[in-house]
Amino acid sequence: MKLHVADNIATLIPYPPGKPLEELEREYGITGSIKLASNENPLGPSPKAVAAIRASLDKLHRYPDGSCYYLAQALAKKLGVEPAELVFGNGSNEIIGLLIAAFLAPGQEVVTSHPTFLVYQKMVQAQGGINRVVPLRDMRHDLAGILAAVTAKTRLIFLDNPNNPTGTVFTAAEFEAFLDQVPEGVIVALDEAYVDFVEPTLQLDARKYLHHRTPVVALRTFSKAYGLAGLRVGYGIMHREIADYLHRVRQPFNVNQLAQVAALAALEDDDHYAKTLRLTREGMAWLACEVEKLGCTAFSSQTNFFLIDVKGDGKALYERMLRKGVIVRPMQAYGYPTYIRITVGLTEENVRFVQSLAESLAELGYGR
Ligand SMILES: Cc1ncc(COP(=O)(O)O)c(C=O)c1O
Repeated sequence: MKLHVADNIATLIPYPPGKPLEELEREYGITGSIKLASNENPLGPSPKAVAAIRASLDKLHRYPDGSCYYLAQALAKKLGVEPAELVFGNGSNEIIGLLIAAFLAPGQEVVTSHPTFLVYQKMVQAQGGINRVVPLRDMRHDLAGILAAVTAKTRLIFLDNPNNPTGTVFTAAEFEAFLDQVPEGVIVALDEAYVDFVEPTLQLDARKYLHHRTPVVALRTFSKAYGLAGLRVGYGIMHREIADYLHRVRQPFNVNQLAQVAALAALEDDDHYAKTLRLTREGMAWLACEVEKLGCTAFSSQTNFFLIDVKGDGKALYERMLRKGVIVRPMQAYGYPTYIRITVGLTEENVRFVQSLAESLAELGYGR
């Protein structure tokens, strides 16, 4: 077969696909495994969202509302913005793609950190753009380094705050000083996928920067605190002029019907949201303490996940834990070969994780 494949596509490494849990269990001959690898909500979806989905099933022969009208109204009210300042997507991933599609021409540049959420750089490459990558400094975004990497060809900067995989945040003062120095014409995408988990005093108010000379687009998702990762729904908060360009490049029915009704119901389920935050905070504190007792280093994080330095080969530890039915994320692909990343789980899952970590460390001779 003869195919004409552009260099940027031929050299693109796909996002590492995870195997279905059932397949992993079959392969390793295990049952009842627990997955603490993808920063999902261990409580599951809001029961109100599930009920809304059930009530909507007999309407699946209709196209969804392409404007996400009811969701936009409810969310705008909750956030104190205008519905026209919101754009919804098939996960916040889609908003990342829409920003790149709308604002980046081939040969133009995007600045990101390393390590950070893998999707930004892949989407830039797929679009024929050029990635300028700035290493983290002390596990945090190097805002000065990022400014130094901006050129006349830069169109976008992606900053996840908190950062995935380190869980670190920058302060409002640091961000404002940074924004003031970004040259005009560059859009800053502030990815707040984990904002719900951030200590309230450290949360930025992205709405303040929508009209800044350097416009900020805040990316949010229903995949994490709202427990709807499988449905794929996220959004961006932005200046309406930017929203207008994103609407030009998005598919007309990009957010499915079930996702829309579920997100709307989840937004109104304060109990489930509060329970999620409580479980996360308590679980994170307990896990960090237990991990340290085992001689590992737990990195403080403002999210529902954290990095652990296991002081040995993280991939080998990951494989050892997998055989015990505990799925974590090895970090060598992010440049941290002695680390794993884990997501907080239910209390019993956290206990099982610690037991399995202790056994695996002992078997491999890591730690103390
Ligand atoms: C920083 C960051 N942004 C965005 C996402 C994905 O969000 P969504 O499920 O809304 O596409 C993730 C998921 O892991 C993430 O870590």
